[in-house]
Amino acid sequence: MPEDLTVTGPQLSLRYPVAQDAPRLFELAADPEVTKPFAWGPYEKQEQAADWIASTARSRGDGDALEFVIADAADQPVGAISLLELSRRDRRAVIGIWLGRPYWGAGIGDEAQALLAHLAFGPLRLERLGAWVDVKNQHSQRAFERLGFTNEGVLRSFQRHYGRAHDLIAYSLLREEFEHSTLAAVAVQISGDSPPAWVCDPW
Ligand SMILES: CC(C)(COP(=O)(O)OP(=O)(O)OC[C@H]1O[C@@H](n2cnc3c(N)ncnc32)[C@H](O)[C@@H]1OP(=O)(O)O)[C@@H](O)C(=O)NCCC(=O)NCCS
Repeated sequence: MPEDLTVTGPQLSLRYPVAQDAPRLFELAADPEVTKPFAWGPYEKQEQAADWIASTARSRGDGDALEFVIADAADQPVGAISLLELSRRDRRAVIGIWLGRPYWGAGIGDEAQALLAHLAFGPLRLERLGAWVDVKNQHSQRAFERLGFTNEGVLRSFQRHYGRAHDLIAYSLLREEFEHSTLAAVAVQISGDSPPAWVCDPW
């Protein structure tokens, strides 16, 4: 049976990327403003989006990255969101997110974060979600703070992108904070099986 996992909210769903998403993901991530904070992109050819899509099943199975397309009501990609840097022992992972520029400021980021948090603190049994945000990326800092993440301070020269060092702010959200946050209040349905590499043992 093909593996499947979909997290559905009021306006959006998170689902695994499929080959047919390549043209739209390419179009959205060919914008240098979208990929500015990352060590990849902007995309120059559609093949790069296709290669990323093709890599996601393996990285999901290996526990390296749990990648989702953020899809609108017509099931079209508007961006992507991921869990990264999983530690099952410590029950934590880090979030990565980007939205295509036409979708900034529309509440889509907040709903996508809510869907991912429901999965992480629900079936995956994580206890901490983190995020690394460039000190210059004020839009992303504001977004995480609005959702209740705590600023834990600056990690100096924490990542290198294209040979340049970046200082990042560490953000975190703990399970009990999630449970009292606006994220928890979003109505979410989770269907399908979580990939075994991402599920922590029951207590
Ligand atoms: C981070 C990101 C997902 C936030 O998007 P969002 O949740 O829609 O942002 P907000 O709702 O907080 O946006 C608030 C306002 O800032 C604007 N804004 C958001 N991101 C912006 C950006 N990167 N550059 C310029 N303006 C931006 C919005 O258009 C909105 O403007 P308005 O009030 O005039 O409508 C989005 O900026 C993005 O995808 N950026 C590129 C990738 C990135 O930085 N990822 C995070 C890495 S840690």
